[in-house]
Amino acid sequence: MILCAAADIVEGQGRGFVYGSGLEREAIFVIRWRGTLLGYRNICPHVGTPLDWPENRFFDTEGHYLMCGTHGAVFRPDDGMCIEGPCVGRAIEKIKIRIENEQIVLDTKN
Ligand code: FES
Repeated sequence: MILCAAADIVEGQGRGFVYGSGLEREAIFVIRWRGTLLGYRNICPHVGTPLDWPENRFFDTEGHYLMCGTHGAVFRPDDGMCIEGPCVGRAIEKIKIRIENEQIVLDTKN
């Protein structure tokens, strides 16, 4: 499934996507970190809320770490591990994406 153009997500930014409905509903997000596009489920390991607040804001103000807008958990962008806050030691679940014809494609085997 095509998510968006790779160029739409610039360095230090992210974008959320929701697909499916009902029990099949999935919320994910993609960030660009040090030139690499990385995908995660948009579910905080603390209590399960989406990380972004406001919408599509996944990084802290300095742009060094991902931050959950609900209770402020801080995550490493490269592996999603929480390093500060209420869920230290737990990680956001990574998802597989790939670039095809300059589009970000969600691997349907996620
Ligand atoms: S839900 Fe993310 S820190 Fe609490």
